[in-house]
Amino acid sequence: METWVPSGEVAEALSALPDVRCSVYDGTGPEPGGIEDVEVWIPPLIPVPDVPGTLARMRSLRLLQTVTAGVEAYRPHLPEGAVLCNARGVHDAGTAEWAVGAMIAVIREFPGFTDAQRRGEWTYHHTGVLADATVLIVGYGSIGAALERRLDGFEVEVVRVARRAREGVHGMAELPALLPAADVVVLLVPATEATAGMVDAAFLARMKDGAVLVNAARGGIVDTDALVAELKDGRLRAALDVTAPEPLPEGHPLWSAPGVLITPHVAGSTPASARRMLRLMRSQMTRHLAGDPLDNVITDAY
Ligand code: GLV
Repeated sequence: METWVPSGEVAEALSALPDVRCSVYDGTGPEPGGIEDVEVWIPPLIPVPDVPGTLARMRSLRLLQTVTAGVEAYRPHLPEGAVLCNARGVHDAGTAEWAVGAMIAVIREFPGFTDAQRRGEWTYHHTGVLADATVLIVGYGSIGAALERRLDGFEVEVVRVARRAREGVHGMAELPALLPAADVVVLLVPATEATAGMVDAAFLARMKDGAVLVNAARGGIVDTDALVAELKDGRLRAALDVTAPEPLPEGHPLWSAPGVLITPHVAGSTPASARRMLRLMRSQMTRHLAGDPLDNVITDAY
């Protein structure tokens, strides 16, 4: 079975499986030959240069298994007959941990203290605190649940919002009413037509003064100009692991906006994710070979 994998590690993880022939394609070098015979594609973390063109030539594709939770680069271009599966669960630990660290860093003003340290200045002052805060998780899925588990012990109130309301989780329609009470708003929604630009000026205006927006989802979910305006006013603060565009170009107003901590889309880029990813690739390929139902199949309801 012709399989394109993103790295030698993934090829190694699949090497014990019968009938699996792996070609490594990390999207940077020349494409391996035989694209028309590829049955399984595990694309690299950073999408290859021409995803639609690559998929259009994969005429034998049956399974596209991403190493990411987000599948927006692939979903619109999936060839007929192929199933798309994401890496749900793989980045829960890394991303949840990043979100906790990022919200604490902003609230406890670590970036400002780091700047002062570099200047050799002892800038004693009181800061905010995470304790007693209301943390609103927008897009409560497996990463949100992992975040909630990690927040247990910080003495916060967690409010959950997902696309559809369910027991203990508010629906998106309730979001405008929930925003004014949140001290921290964590974005974990997938990038879809429905979420593009959803954090616009009106959304931000409903957030309380001094609140922190934490984006561990996708940059395109936030109207960057509207966020920059709020940051410049000093009314809101933010921690962003994702921006639109990425990489954030030199001179972009976000770089110099006050009260924002920016990391370069690293929340899930850790050994924890790598270990979980290899386990998932092995189990999915085992299922695919056996004709068993796959995990994490992306449906229209994604
Ligand atoms: C990372 O950004 C992911 O989608 O998993």
